[in-house]
Amino acid sequence: MNTANLIDPFGRHIDYVRISVTDRCDFRCTYCMDEDVTFLPRKDILSLEEIVTVAQTFIKMGSKKIRITGGEPLVRKNILWALDQISNTQGLEELTLTTNGSQLKKMSKDLFNAGVSRINVSLDTLKPEQFERMTRRDKFHQVIDGIEEMNRYAFRRNKINSVILKNQNDDEIVDLAKFALLRDMDISFIEEMPLGVITDHDRAAAYMSSDEVIRLLDAHLTLTPSALKTGGPTRYFDVEHHTGHIGVISPHSHNFCSTCNRVRLTAEGRLLLCLGNEHSMDLRPYLRVPAKHPFTLEDAIVKALALKPEKHHFNLNEEPQILRFMSATGG
Ligand code: 5AD
Ligand code: SF4
Repeated sequence: MNTANLIDPFGRHIDYVRISVTDRCDFRCTYCMDEDVTFLPRKDILSLEEIVTVAQTFIKMGSKKIRITGGEPLVRKNILWALDQISNTQGLEELTLTTNGSQLKKMSKDLFNAGVSRINVSLDTLKPEQFERMTRRDKFHQVIDGIEEMNRYAFRRNKINSVILKNQNDDEIVDLAKFALLRDMDISFIEEMPLGVITDHDRAAAYMSSDEVIRLLDAHLTLTPSALKTGGPTRYFDVEHHTGHIGVISPHSHNFCSTCNRVRLTAEGRLLLCLGNEHSMDLRPYLRVPAKHPFTLEDAIVKALALKPEKHHFNLNEEPQILRFMSATGG
């Protein structure tokens, strides 16, 4: 299979796949889901074997980087087996993981041994009460211990992801940056995206632009635009006297769609072409009874890429257009 097949109608080379292995999560972050969210029935979720098959097919077709996400990927039973299978597939350059950190204390060593090369941990606050307010769970110390444990292993570079909400955690931007930099980690500050209907707060009122974040940080740290690219939408800055970088993910203020190189596999096997649009293709039929279909999984993936839209149209002042939550799609 020629890797030219992984080019979309806008000439973008799709070499990065994000795979959600479960929509379930042990947290209930207010910007991500409501407390009484309904999860998918287990029978609708891809098996780990099916997930590995999709990952290996993408790698065979030329994908270089796979990120495992959720929900919380580390609550999926036997996930280490799948990680090991994927990381050992020839052609893959990087297997990365996005996690809320709750399982890192007990799993960091196994993740390292399973071939995970980098980990992104979501951490929005350094105050235990604010942590409970934002995640609706009292697990702050468990996450911090998990981060310290993770940093004992030689992952390539680890990162903190912080979603910043005005009047909630915007007073902690500098502290969060220092927390990461002191541990030689990168940190990305994220503008909240209107995914799913939430009731906790008004997203327009809580909006904090990346430019404001950078302005705030500039008063305390010396930042210069960085050449670092990790294959995502993050714009990085170098920080004087530190090896870690500060990044911003700005779906509202700086549209990054023209350089989009990714697709997402949802937990139930839908290949989602864009976080901000519903264009997708269900890959399950090609996984479950392949013999009945005239197309192979590879053909289906090529056809799906033809559906990739040019850009997202997020608007904070309208009702969310995208009714699925980040947890269902692989954040
Ligand atoms: N907007 C922005 N980021 C979000 N995340 C979850 N939901 C949203 C949202 N609506 C973040 C998580 C995690 C990453 C995968 O996505 O905090 O860091
Ligand atoms: Fe769970 Fe991540 Fe959503 Fe928080 S943002 S509820 S940790 S999936």
